[in-house]
Amino acid sequence: MMLHYHLLFPCFLCFLCFFNLTTTSELCFDSTCNGNFQTIRFPFRIQNKQPKSCGYPGFDLTCHPTGQPLIHLPFSGEFIVQYIDYQNQEIWVNDPNNCLPRKILSLMLFGSPFDAKNTVDFTFFNCSGSDEIPYDFNLNPISCLSGLSYAVFASSSSMVNGILSSRCELVKTVSVPMSSESYSWDLDLRNDLRLVWKKPNCKKCELNGGVCGIKPNSTNEIQCKYNTSTPSGTFLSFVHIVFSSLYTYLFRSVRE
Ligand SMILES: *[C@@H]1O[C@H](CO)[C@@H](O)[C@H](O)[C@H]1NC(C)=O
Ligand SMILES: *[C@@H]1O[C@H](CO)[C@@H](O)[C@H](O)[C@H]1NC(C)=O
Ligand SMILES: *[C@@H]1O[C@H](CO)[C@@H](O)[C@H](O)[C@H]1NC(C)=O
Repeated sequence: MMLHYHLLFPCFLCFLCFFNLTTTSELCFDSTCNGNFQTIRFPFRIQNKQPKSCGYPGFDLTCHPTGQPLIHLPFSGEFIVQYIDYQNQEIWVNDPNNCLPRKILSLMLFGSPFDAKNTVDFTFFNCSGSDEIPYDFNLNPISCLSGLSYAVFASSSSMVNGILSSRCELVKTVSVPMSSESYSWDLDLRNDLRLVWKKPNCKKCELNGGVCGIKPNSTNEIQCKYNTSTPSGTFLSFVHIVFSSLYTYLFRSVRE
């Protein structure tokens, strides 16, 4: 019995260390540009509102005058962040100037932490006044890209692309990160783009109710902390009680 008692105490201490029962750092607080929008937390941070160490590089946000958060992609400029799914590590973005197709034409995710999840290739055509435009394919010109003497179309249908390419000037084919897997080929590219991020990976931490953040004094290494007041904290308190009782019981057994 003496042997068990000697083994159990170090085990108990290790257990506590492993789960890090200390309360989470109070330095990083959730923030928001304006109360009407989603709160922002790691890996995102609002510049000038949250300390640099509370965000991950590439996830800095600024605030649009409307109160919506903006993200800057190195080669594509600013996008409004419509929604952040922290658990699945996805964001929905749109154009602050209400002309998403224009942003799509210059979209390049290279150099940003984001990737597309599912893409659909859209080909853009520029049809001038003298071209015979086939409006019968449910095609609507993209109004914010069209002028008085020309109309710009985008299509993901190879049949429509075939017809348009014989009549109009081909502008570009772009892989568009669509927000859902179901789409219609004549979609006018106004819906939010859905982007995903893989690094930093806080999925498990988020799922377990932890607080993900950068490990102090590390170069972007992440850590997951648990708030002792959260349900997982309650669970740890329970584990603590079980171990304490067991310890007391064994201690008594040894004495007797
Ligand atoms: C379409 O063509 C017109 C001139 O015909 C040009 O001014 C305009 O910039 C073009 N738009 C695109 C998106 O290529
Ligand atoms: C982390 O850095 C701070 C200031 O740079 C220093 O005071 C502290 O001792 C460091 N902690 C560790 C564990 O290195
Ligand atoms: C931890 O939980 C308490 C009570 O639920 C809450 O008031 C506090 O803000 C939480 N701290 C963090 C860092 O989430």
